Amino acid sequence: MATGRRKITVIGAGNVGATTAQRLAERDYADVVLVDVVDGLAEGKALDMNSAGPVVGYEPSITGSTNDYSLTAGSDVIVITSGLARKPGMSRDDLLLKNTEIVGSVTKAAAEASPDAIIVVVSNPLDAMCHVALDKSGFPSERVVGMAGVLDSARFRAFLAWEAGVSVRDVTGFVMGGHGDTMVPVVSNTNIAGIPVTELIPQDRLDSIVQRTRDGGAEVVKLLKTGSAYYAPSAGAVEMVDSIILDQKRVLPCAAYLTGQYDVDGLYLGVPVTLGAKGVEKIHEVSLTEDEKSQLEHSANAVRELVDVMAAKA
Ligand code: LAC
Repeated sequence: MATGRRKITVIGAGNVGATTAQRLAERDYADVVLVDVVDGLAEGKALDMNSAGPVVGYEPSITGSTNDYSLTAGSDVIVITSGLARKPGMSRDDLLLKNTEIVGSVTKAAAEASPDAIIVVVSNPLDAMCHVALDKSGFPSERVVGMAGVLDSARFRAFLAWEAGVSVRDVTGFVMGGHGDTMVPVVSNTNIAGIPVTELIPQDRLDSIVQRTRDGGAEVVKLLKTGSAYYAPSAGAVEMVDSIILDQKRVLPCAAYLTGQYDVDGLYLGVPVTLGAKGVEKIHEVSLTEDEKSQLEHSANAVRELVDVMAAKA
């Protein structure tokens, strides 16, 4: 049932997409349209979620669609989760060419139906897929943003909380750079209730937490054996959607299109941004140590390589 509420489209009804739709439905501030190419999958999951509404306490206003983008028309936010997931031993980059095709076609269809929407890209390899969505939507770059930093930072914060034996609510820290092996957990700006984390956790433990954060996605894949993480990725996407739909102006690490910030030009990279009703409203330039700067440069180069591979194959 269509209502006068805001509208959010989630493309891809796999684990990440469906869990994102579920979390959004439970927030009850917008209608949700779930789209998938697999016949009946989105409709089935939508019907199941709608049936949970009376029990959990949200309106049963989730619409499932098998590739019918007319149902998504006029969306305020489009979350793109489509694509193949990583299998054990497969890198995010292996997914590049296949997912370029998939993300390109869903972006085109969704952007045509909702020309004023803000796109949140979740598909991997994340930073490269942001370029695909930017290109195929034709939207200004402030309306195409990627979800990875919130996820990577959430992992980082959870590991730090365990190590320090404190509430995760008091752990502030973020991860910059590409969503891959080169990501940069920014230890110099990480604190626990204002206390620099370096004063509370010994360097060798911090080093291993940084590495565990970088390997966070792969650690889950290895345990699951089939499929990749979705509880934390969907939580990350929804935190971004909240900030956009509710114009919260949260400062969140997101993949944003850089135009000279951090000495990077014409590239999506994870950086702290202010996220609001207009999308990426501000890109924040935080001070980094020399080591972090060079790690970020290394990460930007890794993302640039993927973008170049896509450009060469286009
Ligand atoms: C992760 C994958 C899905 O980080 O990118 O879990």
